[in-house]
Amino acid sequence: MTSEAFVPVGPVAEIVPGSSKTVVVEGREIAVFNVGGTFYAIENYCPHQGASLAEGWLDGTTITCPWHAWCFNLTDGTMTLGAFARVDPYDVRVEEGQVSVSSRPRRPEVT
Ligand code: FES
Repeated sequence: MTSEAFVPVGPVAEIVPGSSKTVVVEGREIAVFNVGGTFYAIENYCPHQGASLAEGWLDGTTITCPWHAWCFNLTDGTMTLGAFARVDPYDVRVEEGQVSVSSRPRRPEVT
């Protein structure tokens, strides 16, 4: 069992559907996305050359890096084109109109 804190990062109204916001949680830059009312969060650092993924192109739950078009699943941080890189996903909670992000990344499930 892990103890995990959620950190408020702003009101729901600040991140309208189809948009993103960059936040900092415990020193880590995180990109928060609203996809049709469901919120996702991933580290805001492309593993290729470090672009801000919050500034990428959002298509459903796929974010395309604005620099060289690597694509990541917002649901789990995996790449859509192969398994040679990934970004950390974070859990998101929405309570009483406030978006909160986990202070720790969600680790991949061991299979
Ligand atoms: S920096 Fe993201 S694809 Fe190159």
